[in-house]
Amino acid sequence: MKQPLIFAHRGVKGTHPENTMIAFREAERVGAHGIELDVHLSKDGEVVIIHDETVDRTTNGSGLVCEHTLQELKQLDASFGSSFVGETIPTLHEVLEWMQGNMLLLNIELKNDVIRYIELEQKVIDLVREYRMEKRVVLSSFNHDSVAILEALAPDIERAILYHYPIAEPTAEAKIRKASGLHPNFELLTKEFVQKAQEEGYVLRPYTINEPEDLTRMIEYGVDVIITDWPERALSLLNKKKPFNSF
Ligand code: G3P
Ligand code: CA
Repeated sequence: MKQPLIFAHRGVKGTHPENTMIAFREAERVGAHGIELDVHLSKDGEVVIIHDETVDRTTNGSGLVCEHTLQELKQLDASFGSSFVGETIPTLHEVLEWMQGNMLLLNIELKNDVIRYIELEQKVIDLVREYRMEKRVVLSSFNHDSVAILEALAPDIERAILYHYPIAEPTAEAKIRKASGLHPNFELLTKEFVQKAQEEGYVLRPYTINEPEDLTRMIEYGVDVIITDWPERALSLLNKKKPFNSF
């Protein structure tokens, strides 16, 4: 049976402060094949890595990300509420620089479904190109208009539609948006759908699969990538760490 690649969700979110460099380094340490992270724009237009529109939940600050300059964001403690200390909100630039020294794959989720950041797509693409990461990156968004914009700007960089709730025809939606990847909430999947979508050429990377029985089920379904907070758990279920694969 084909084995999926394992992507660490927001870094190794299960054990480390999400979307921080220490969480990304942990993903590499445990042997994950890739990482997933979330990007927003700062007030001064930097692509920064954080999940929410506000800094309230994951740092010791408050307010919208887009109302803070990068310098202001860098003052905040992104290890807030964890047993770790000293983590800051990373920039995408920093992560891509770090990735020059490893072979990890990267799923960049553009968090532009609530705030429509102007030029986020172009800024992300520019950074991916600056670091020559085109073949190691898949771009995704819950904002499917944004996925179509990404295709228009960079048809050579892989794209995927995210969806949390059922949509009538996911593969038809992906076709319209010119995306080759489907990133669904894993609970929406059936084995039949996975097989049919893959036969049509789509790449299945469901999220966020954490419990052993769910991980086992997704492996049995034959999904291409498993996005998980607990990559070590997923890797041990696969019983061996896979060698590096590209998309
Ligand atoms: O990209 C998969 C997953 O991260 C999407 O949901 O809310 O964890 O960003 P969320
Ligand atoms: Ca995400």
